[in-house]
Amino acid sequence: MNSINSHCDALPWWKRTTVYQIYPRSFADRDGDGIGDLAGIIDRLDYLEWLGIETIWLSPFFTSPQADFGYDISDHFNVAPEYGSLEECRRLFDEIHARGMKVVLDMVLNHTSDQHPWFLESRSSRDNPYRDFYMWRDGRKPNGAAPPNNWQSMLGGSGWNYDPQTDQWYWSSFLPFQPDLNYRRPAVKRAMLDVVRHWLRAGADGLRLDIFNAIYKDASFADNPRSLRFVSEDNPGGFFQRALHTQNHPDTFAFARELRAVVDEFEDPQRFVVGEVFGPPELLRQYCGPSGDGLNLVFLFKSLRTPFRAPAFRELVRAFESVFAEPFHPTYVFGNHDRPRHMERLGDDPRRARLLAAFQMTVRGVPFIYYGDELGLSHHHGMPREAARDPMAARFGFIPKLLLPWLRRRGILINRDECRSPMPWQDGPHAGFAPPGTSATWLPLHPQSATKNVAVQTEDSGSVLSTYRRMLHLRRSSPALSSGRLELFDAPTDPKKVLAYRRIYEDANVRETAEVFLNFSDQNVRLDLGNLRSLGGVRIHSNLHDETSAPAQHHVLRAWEAAVILRDHCA
Ligand code: GLC
Repeated sequence: MNSINSHCDALPWWKRTTVYQIYPRSFADRDGDGIGDLAGIIDRLDYLEWLGIETIWLSPFFTSPQADFGYDISDHFNVAPEYGSLEECRRLFDEIHARGMKVVLDMVLNHTSDQHPWFLESRSSRDNPYRDFYMWRDGRKPNGAAPPNNWQSMLGGSGWNYDPQTDQWYWSSFLPFQPDLNYRRPAVKRAMLDVVRHWLRAGADGLRLDIFNAIYKDASFADNPRSLRFVSEDNPGGFFQRALHTQNHPDTFAFARELRAVVDEFEDPQRFVVGEVFGPPELLRQYCGPSGDGLNLVFLFKSLRTPFRAPAFRELVRAFESVFAEPFHPTYVFGNHDRPRHMERLGDDPRRARLLAAFQMTVRGVPFIYYGDELGLSHHHGMPREAARDPMAARFGFIPKLLLPWLRRRGILINRDECRSPMPWQDGPHAGFAPPGTSATWLPLHPQSATKNVAVQTEDSGSVLSTYRRMLHLRRSSPALSSGRLELFDAPTDPKKVLAYRRIYEDANVRETAEVFLNFSDQNVRLDLGNLRSLGGVRIHSNLHDETSAPAQHHVLRAWEAAVILRDHCA
């Protein structure tokens, strides 16, 4: 084995894994209150095991006023009653682990709910011992009637909120009911690291870190510089301002390493953290530490804005491979509970969804799959903004409806209800999401629930669901696909249509190569596989059906088809 390949056999589990995101409110409701719960998730674990998922990420289910559906926590150590109890939470972890799967919890470290006892204390008086658990400042002189500086929240508009009780302003990076914690006070950092340790001790295998890029703000409170750009993912923050002092602060990069050291206190299994952070890949890598000793993984949302074409995806892979070369590791994200459903960008074409599944499960990087995307569920456009449950919809009520499709195409969602419909399990009452007697589900069912559901698609080997299952299992069974290094190469055909890469795995006992060809066109293309014919142990897998084939001189790749050619060199 040469030194280039020597990392292959040593890849930790969190680099090999596949992650499925559950939004607990919308996944499965056992008790019939119309809101998903932990017991409901337990009932559906067999499905996730069948699908081939290795790790489950749960959006927050902790005690919360639910003003932002759990991203506003008022007690980090308890379970919100609508989701269940601590006992059910323990059961859920046990049941996940009993199936050989892992569990990732959502940690909202940046802020708490304004109903958290710390904040209630903090806002009660200027000299309360909890006052500086949060960030309080006087308004601008002469009379304090203007916010302390020009800083904008991540949603635009001043992030400072005036509180008449003590005549000062507190800072919130997101919505006003989510006041930011003050990490410059050591007691805050200690308390939040205790929360982290608590859940790792309770059995979490990993943590997803909510808006981690906002944790530290500059101690100088100097104004942010102006920018000519309105808003852009490459210029975090935005709204004609560069978020220099409010996001991606050097102190947050340092904190990432401190946090990693805490996570590494836990072994057997090794744990990991994945950061929700925003910006260009080069900047985001800084969260992972100079030698990979910071956050294990970061979300790379560039994939959400990449046109679904072979050259654009080749560039995406090239960029992620160069910035996240070993010991770093990329992630591939195409949807979550804040974003338009991935079908929106795929023109609602199930053939494209099946190709995307093949890409996500064969490329080098951890795939994150948002619940329902494995069914090719369309974006739900029919959710009236006026009746929205999502607090962001009201915040952005001023944006003209005409602009919404344009924003959606850029991955920006104003009413996040549209991607949070109850999971459709089967045709029938509440699509199997809630028991038949339930009066109403917390959000209306998806209009496609009768046809695009788990029961229907399980029976159809050509469904989007069957493709996800096929690709997930193929990845699990192949060391090359789950652990191999990646090389891009030019397919022996039109590179505008076909993206090709090779995954190579090698250890003392095994050498496996996977050649992947992804046809990003609606035409058949012919691949010349002449040189493979003479080799033994070669099988061609397709994303479209279960049968494998041996290579012929010419292999025809159908429209939107992916072929994975696996070669076991020891065969
Ligand atoms: C993250 C979450 C989002 C939440 C926000 C504030 O972006 O993904 O759902 O509203 O942070 O916690």
